[in-house]
Amino acid sequence: MSDICDIPGSITAPRHLAIIMDGNGRWALSRGKQRVSGHREGANAVRRVISLSAQLGVKELTLFAFSSENWKRPALEVNALMTLFVQAIKKESKSLKENGIKTCIVGDKTRFPAILQDQIKKVEELTKDCSVMKLNIAANYGGRWDILQATQKLLKKCTEENLNFNELNEDSISQNLSVPTDVDLLIRTGGEKRISNFLMWQAAYAELFFTDTLWPDFDKKDLIEAFTFFNSRERRFGMTSAQVQNKEKDNAD
Ligand code: FPP
Repeated sequence: MSDICDIPGSITAPRHLAIIMDGNGRWALSRGKQRVSGHREGANAVRRVISLSAQLGVKELTLFAFSSENWKRPALEVNALMTLFVQAIKKESKSLKENGIKTCIVGDKTRFPAILQDQIKKVEELTKDCSVMKLNIAANYGGRWDILQATQKLLKKCTEENLNFNELNEDSISQNLSVPTDVDLLIRTGGEKRISNFLMWQAAYAELFFTDTLWPDFDKKDLIEAFTFFNSRERRFGMTSAQVQNKEKDNAD
């Protein structure tokens, strides 16, 4: 576990933090290495950020590990990523359990190699009763896929149980997504300013933090910078600033 002694006490963690981990390839190429060594170093950053997030009070952390579109990458890189996922899950399962991290892999898992599907089942089963933080690793995930599969589930349920479609509401969709909770803070590393089909529904009201830091370099200082930004935001959810302040005052009374 990382040391949090030097983290300012005034920092409040977002309840649900989501991260687009970008820049592994550039990190490696700028050092004259193969892209896959950037992914390996990226796995170390994953470990660091899981540990820090749990210690800082994040209740749910969703990491974008592999998008539905990443299959288009060279086969060598895709295979290396699959191997890395298997190794990382195998290596970290015990520590995830010991640290109370309930781990779920979200996305269309059917296309993964059997060995990866086995490891996923094992870590999900091992950590299912953990309650310090929920970790969602989004793999073969796309926001549009998530909305589509939620819609299909709902239509099936309505048909089977003879329910009225008109009674569906936004909560019905949220509850059927593979990640049902709204995101509070979305971080993207690596300099791009895009959502890239991540948590499209869940990030509707998220604060967005973009940093040039490449994912393998992302550390405590970057996380604190992101949380400091988050703490400086007034989250209005469509209300006026005066309404938000009155609501906060009422809640405090
Ligand atoms: C994006 O960087 C990164 C990925 C597509 C893979 C993310 C994988 C990891 C962080 C490794 C370990 C993950 C887990 C969950 C154990 P990029 O390759 O697109 O970088 P680039 O934009 O510099 O090319």
